[in-house]
Amino acid sequence: MTIRDVARRAGVGVATVSRVLNGTGYVKAETRERVLAAAAELGYVPSQLARGLVRRLSGTVGLVVPDITNPFFPLITRGVEDAASEAGYTVFLCNTDNDPVLEAQDVRKLREHRVDGIIFVGTTERRELVDQLLADDIPVVVMDRQLEHADVDTVTVDNVAGAQAACRHLIELGHRRIAHAAGHQSTRTGQDRCQGYRMALEEADIPYDPACVTWGDFTFESGFRVGQVLLGLSPRPTAVFAGNDLIALGVIRAAEEAGLSVPDDLSVVGFDNIQMAALVRPGLTTVRQPAREMGRLAMTMLLERIRGEFSGPGRRHVYPPELIVRGTTRRREPLG
Ligand code: RIB
Repeated sequence: MTIRDVARRAGVGVATVSRVLNGTGYVKAETRERVLAAAAELGYVPSQLARGLVRRLSGTVGLVVPDITNPFFPLITRGVEDAASEAGYTVFLCNTDNDPVLEAQDVRKLREHRVDGIIFVGTTERRELVDQLLADDIPVVVMDRQLEHADVDTVTVDNVAGAQAACRHLIELGHRRIAHAAGHQSTRTGQDRCQGYRMALEEADIPYDPACVTWGDFTFESGFRVGQVLLGLSPRPTAVFAGNDLIALGVIRAAEEAGLSVPDDLSVVGFDNIQMAALVRPGLTTVRQPAREMGRLAMTMLLERIRGEFSGPGRRHVYPPELIVRGTTRRREPLG
């Protein structure tokens, strides 16, 4: 039995059969079905093929991140790349600039390159892109964003608990007027960190003041702008919990420009523990995410799906956060 017999039976050319069997190039779904049925009827290849399960792997995966200039994402990328290269895989990196339109384009391009799977850090809570990939049997791991989806693996840190730990630390230092310079409101990550902030205030019986929360995005520039707004409040906050480390650095710059000293006049806590957090002076108090390890785990989980080693319901891996106390937080001396 040869490929020609299959082509004859299916009423298509040999090249089309080859494209279907090798999983390369475009073939209409209906033609593909006909070819697979003909191959199965003729017993051309293993029964595997008849079930349409033979998929030629490209040895590539896509990694979609919102902002590669945020030092958190190179760490994630490094972890993904570590596991990928050990497995002989190549990673295509896409930066979406937090733009849902670019994000959809990037996913489309990755599909055109026939990646075997995608690790995805989404810009919003929308799940259509993920649903489309799964519908087409392309494995996905969502990371750094929690996603309520029964079929998708996720890798995150516990953002609520991390934010709570950060704010409890400020409260233990005697702060009561604590502001939150928040990240993207459209992300679950941003929302969870705000929720942790509010929970910490509530458990300490500190009334929530909506004026003390300002949303922006996860950048230094946003931290600077939001910092100026928060430091203009009356009474002025004595501490700021920032949605990530870049925001925290922006808030510190805003404080310096306003003639305030960190931590004497203002305590600041970040989130991520990017390398810069330990390098700046004073060192930034922050919540550590094991970014490189998270990237490695996401790639490992993706490979398990690609290779068919795991095909069950979505797995949810949530790392515990770790508070790292450095120099930007200080005890608040009682007034008077
Ligand atoms: O995407 C922005 C932020 O989400 C990062 O800085 C990191 O905090 C991540 O969890």
